[in-house]
Amino acid sequence: MLPTPIYNFSAGPAILPESVLRTAQSEMFDYNGTGFSVMTMSHRSDVFMSILYHAEQDLRQLMNIPDNYKVLFLQGGASSQFNMVVMNLANGFKRVDSVITGNWSAIAHSQMGKLSDAEIHLAADGGALFNYTNLPPVNSWDIGKDSAFVHFVINETVHGLQYREVPKLGDDMPPLVCDMSSEILSRRINVSDFGVIYAGAQKNIGPSGATIVIIREDLLERCSDRIPDVWNYKSHIERQGMYNTPATYPIYISGLVFRWLQSQGGVEQMETINTLKAKTLYEAIDNSGGFYINNVHPGARSKMNVIFHTGNKELDELFAQESTTRGLRLLRGYKSMGGMRASIYNAMTLQGVEALIDFMQEFQRRYG
Ligand SMILES: Cc1ncc(COP(=O)(O)O)c(C=O)c1O
Repeated sequence: MLPTPIYNFSAGPAILPESVLRTAQSEMFDYNGTGFSVMTMSHRSDVFMSILYHAEQDLRQLMNIPDNYKVLFLQGGASSQFNMVVMNLANGFKRVDSVITGNWSAIAHSQMGKLSDAEIHLAADGGALFNYTNLPPVNSWDIGKDSAFVHFVINETVHGLQYREVPKLGDDMPPLVCDMSSEILSRRINVSDFGVIYAGAQKNIGPSGATIVIIREDLLERCSDRIPDVWNYKSHIERQGMYNTPATYPIYISGLVFRWLQSQGGVEQMETINTLKAKTLYEAIDNSGGFYINNVHPGARSKMNVIFHTGNKELDELFAQESTTRGLRLLRGYKSMGGMRASIYNAMTLQGVEALIDFMQEFQRRYG
């Protein structure tokens, strides 16, 4: 028997709103009177084209995406973008700036130079500076005005770091390219501060398989025809996102999540709840008298991925095991980090966070 309720703290693929899964369940065999599942229909059918159209429109409404930005639902995951942005936007440039703030931006940095002649310049290194317990301020980034773009990760899923103030560069600076995978739609941002925003869907949006790319139109002029179509933003846009078969089912679920977000009051309301959830959880950690530890500088703590540990590996393991039997699932930290990580994306309720805190306090009473 499963303990109820189950709270899913996975970092990704991650929790989805229950009502979205129930809708998907009810439409599994018969989508809207068609007699078959979205999974089994042609991506070029009117029905799917309409699903894709509405998903894009709803995402535009939620993020307030200006008309001079294009939206794509690609495949390949966020990792594919580490190279796609360079292939498409660094054409004819000698330099790309890259900010390392944790696991994902370090991987991006190591990948970006492949298949590119541009120098991938390390603009700031949060590992060398702070051992990934704080973030290099934007005004300390070493950026070249002649750079093709500046790449950074706004929320580091593994190290539990987040730029609390959304980075913005001056008008005379190169465009910002932002990996927003683990925080997209969790708070208000100004899309026009970015050249490109990309995100794997599997954290705050939907199942894995869809990769959102939001790109400022004028940057498409940089996409050379020499780039194979499947990696070329311009080719995807010229074919309305239908260059090849998109991830139809993940797009359908993402569309349901967008509607759920609208019904919840949109990104603004999510931001309020996410702030409260994170504050409640960090307070519980900080008020534990040192039993639970989070070493991240308070101004850089992620509101999406809250990492903590007890300082004792056996105790951390016991925490992971016991919390699982209580229905608090997937709290083990990333493999290289150990400890615990509670991912509290949009679909995680305040009740889920409170249930986790109740368990943390009880665990401390027994082992503290
Ligand atoms: C911030 C960030 N970027 C990139 C990735 C890699 O995403 P994908 O597995 O979709 O390539 C992840 C995955 O967890 C992530 O959290």
